[in-house]
Amino acid sequence: MRPRLQRLVPLFFVLFSLCLYATARPEDADYARQKPIGGSAGQHGESWKSRWGNTEGGANPHQGMLAFDEAVTLLHKIKPATAPWWNFDKKSGILGTSAYYAKEVFFILFMNGPPQHELLTTNPQPKKLGHALSQGVTLLEEAAAHKNPDAIFTLAEMNFYGNYTHPRNYSEAFRRYHELATLNGNASAQHMVGFMHATGIGGAVKQDQAKAMLYYTLGAEGGDVRSEMAVAYRHSAGISAPRDCEEAVYFYKEAAKKAIAYMRSGPPGGHSMPRESYNIADEEGGVYGEGASASSSGQNAKVTSVYSDAFSSLDDVFEYMDLQARKGDARATFNLAKLNYDGARTLKRDLPAAKKRFLELARMYWTPSGKVNANVSPTTEKLASKAAGYLGRMFLRGEGMPQSFDIAKTWFRRGMELGDALSQYSMGLMYLKGLGVPEDPVKAAELFGAAADQDLAVAQVRLGALFLDQGDVSIAIKYFELAARHGHLEAFYYLAEMTHSGVGRDKSCPVAAAYYKIVAEKAELVSTSFPEANEAYTNGHLETALVGYMMAAEQGFEVGQANVAYLLDQVKPRFTFASLVPFMKQKASLASDAFLALIYWTRSAEQKNVDSMVKMGDYYLMGFGTKPDQEKAAACYQAAAETMRSAQAMWNLGWMHENGIGIDQDFHLAKRHYDMALETNPREAYLPVVMALYKLRLRSWWNTLTHGNIKSIQEEPVVKKDWTLSQWLSAFLEAELEGWDEYEPDDYDDSHTAGDDYYGDGYHGNEIDSDILESLIILALSGALAFLFYYRTQRQRRQEEERRRQQEQQQHLNGNQGMAVPQQQGQAQGQAPQQDRGLFPGLGDPEFMDWVAGGVGH
Ligand SMILES: *[C@@H]1O[C@H](CO)[C@@H](O)[C@H](O)[C@H]1NC(C)=O
Ligand SMILES: *[C@@H]1O[C@H](CO)[C@@H](O)[C@H](O)[C@H]1NC(C)=O
Ligand SMILES: *[C@@H]1O[C@H](CO)[C@@H](O)[C@H](O)[C@H]1NC(C)=O
Repeated sequence: MRPRLQRLVPLFFVLFSLCLYATARPEDADYARQKPIGGSAGQHGESWKSRWGNTEGGANPHQGMLAFDEAVTLLHKIKPATAPWWNFDKKSGILGTSAYYAKEVFFILFMNGPPQHELLTTNPQPKKLGHALSQGVTLLEEAAAHKNPDAIFTLAEMNFYGNYTHPRNYSEAFRRYHELATLNGNASAQHMVGFMHATGIGGAVKQDQAKAMLYYTLGAEGGDVRSEMAVAYRHSAGISAPRDCEEAVYFYKEAAKKAIAYMRSGPPGGHSMPRESYNIADEEGGVYGEGASASSSGQNAKVTSVYSDAFSSLDDVFEYMDLQARKGDARATFNLAKLNYDGARTLKRDLPAAKKRFLELARMYWTPSGKVNANVSPTTEKLASKAAGYLGRMFLRGEGMPQSFDIAKTWFRRGMELGDALSQYSMGLMYLKGLGVPEDPVKAAELFGAAADQDLAVAQVRLGALFLDQGDVSIAIKYFELAARHGHLEAFYYLAEMTHSGVGRDKSCPVAAAYYKIVAEKAELVSTSFPEANEAYTNGHLETALVGYMMAAEQGFEVGQANVAYLLDQVKPRFTFASLVPFMKQKASLASDAFLALIYWTRSAEQKNVDSMVKMGDYYLMGFGTKPDQEKAAACYQAAAETMRSAQAMWNLGWMHENGIGIDQDFHLAKRHYDMALETNPREAYLPVVMALYKLRLRSWWNTLTHGNIKSIQEEPVVKKDWTLSQWLSAFLEAELEGWDEYEPDDYDDSHTAGDDYYGDGYHGNEIDSDILESLIILALSGALAFLFYYRTQRQRRQEEERRRQQEQQQHLNGNQGMAVPQQQGQAQGQAPQQDRGLFPGLGDPEFMDWVAGGVGH
């Protein structure tokens, strides 16, 4: 105890200074510093009253504008609300670490419950505004009275998002948005009014999907991209409007056009479109936890490893690779450089660092003067050529350094000597656009072709576009389809256009709509609030996160829908909508929370999220947000199980069959489903399934014994799935291919291989190895167990035979008692297996083997 206490002393010291810091920190300090400004603002306050006199007198655009401008200068001086002092990440370094633990200790000792609760309690009393802020608001209200649209808009945003530290008031926000929407039909305001009607957020208005649809449509007609997506999604999914593909395709096309326009407006090669839409549940291994969720079990366990289980240890991986890189490991250097360049969920892009590492790598092959080093290993050579491509790309686009076509050209030429695809493509781009070289489409096409042959998606798209220009539709389509396999945004756009108009492909409205949707949704920076929502979620600002995800959910993003549902989830309550609304009775709001959660689980399930489908079943089973409906629940589980991915759903179905809930009681089917659950997820489901099977066999046996009317477990011919290695491989590859429509950085490169490049070969290999090892151990153990049983029963049988022989000998001796024995024997044989059956399948029972093996191999 003592040594530990001693170690805690520095922590308490840090804690103490933190407390001092924190008490000195709050707004008072800011405003104290702003005293002079506030003072002059006070005078302004006096002066605007005298200057503009009575505010009741009708609209005066000029005066409104003056007041607005003044308010804006005032508001911009307000410091943005800083994150509460306790919301800092674990920093490296001794001080950072001790501060972090001091914080943890502090909360354990003095605070009950997580800190978030304080953030979420909306103060029902109007909060006293800071001096500068209240001045600004007064000026804005003045301008708003003069019907200044900017002022009305700003007021609405301040009340909705809480800009400039203004407290949120959804009722007020709604009033202002509505005012602006009716004033000049401002599309952004229309969207917000629609959004508030759709979600009933903060109790500002009653939920009303019809009105929501109306305002969304008005916003979409006004060109608001979020409204366009929302309307299109509603038309395609049939929400508050009949399904109407033509309408959906029209609005998705409008949104897709904006996405493409944004992308093409970027540097050579287009703006990059980083992925920001993460399923937050995946950080915890999916909504049912690691292994139990479809998103983190079975095939997906490896596919999504970057974002799920390995995600939490990205820092560790990074550190490890850094160590390797310092030792001169080219692979590690390359992976790190790419991580720096692309960024990841928890890692911001760091272009200078990326440049440094790429250069380091390139220098392993080329001397600064361009000579080739002797004795370079083939791996290093290959990676150096890739590094050259990236370096050239960064110079070409001016990323992290001033743009320079000459330097870019030098690097591309070096990369091309070694056949690097990115260099070929980028050089082609320079010829195509005449950047630093004379324009030469033929040369460009040649280079694109070379890169496209190496399966570089961007090059395939460019080449396809060139063929399309020449009128060679069928070849163009071939290239677009190749690129679409890698999820390239522009490829989908071309395919959508061609499918929509029926050029070179069969005209199909649903397919076109789906493609346009993909394009619109890939341009997350253009149309979504994912980045802000993610950041808010990481910082623990759940309210902001929820609103951001909800907006994306309304736009039809499956990830948004799953996130909202996850945040509002009733089964594992983490956050209630009620906390946004003062004075609301907990009970009532809980119900409406579940109602909203169910809506979004349903929408997400409809977009093929297996886990959401299972969740939906849970809600129906337990009657959250709806009337309990066991049959519907069973249908949901059935649908989720049919994809063969959700062990959870199969397990639930097994349970429902066993107990006759929602579906017919049927022990035989129950066993089938338990077995399937195990087959889908051998690792996590092993123990529960084995236990459940015990119980099930006992019940089934009892049922048979008492001639119950439930179908008992019956023997089926065992279809042995004897996978050879090559079958296993091809199944694995197929699963890999299925992931082709996953999001990927669009605008360049070989990112489809990035998945296994992230951690280098060793890391990935180890994972698979340990998996196989685990299965082998399980198999070996089951085998040993089987052998022991076999051995035991064999011995019993031998003893039995021994005894029988002795008996027979006796009978021979006794002679006259011969008749009675066969009868007895028959009884013994008939009963022995059955009595044993509940626990261990008995002798001669064909189930024997597969029971012991626990279904692992069957
Ligand atoms: C709506 O009004 C605000 C403030 O006047 C303006 O900034 C915004 O661009 C407008 N939105 C549209 C789509 O016109
Ligand atoms: C208010 O904040 C939100 C979210 O941070 C932002 O999207 C919006 O543009 C801001 N509005 C104004 C008027 O500053
Ligand atoms: C929010 O705004 C409404 C008017 O729109 C007002 O009646 C209410 O008092 C405000 N609530 C708070 C907490 O300021």
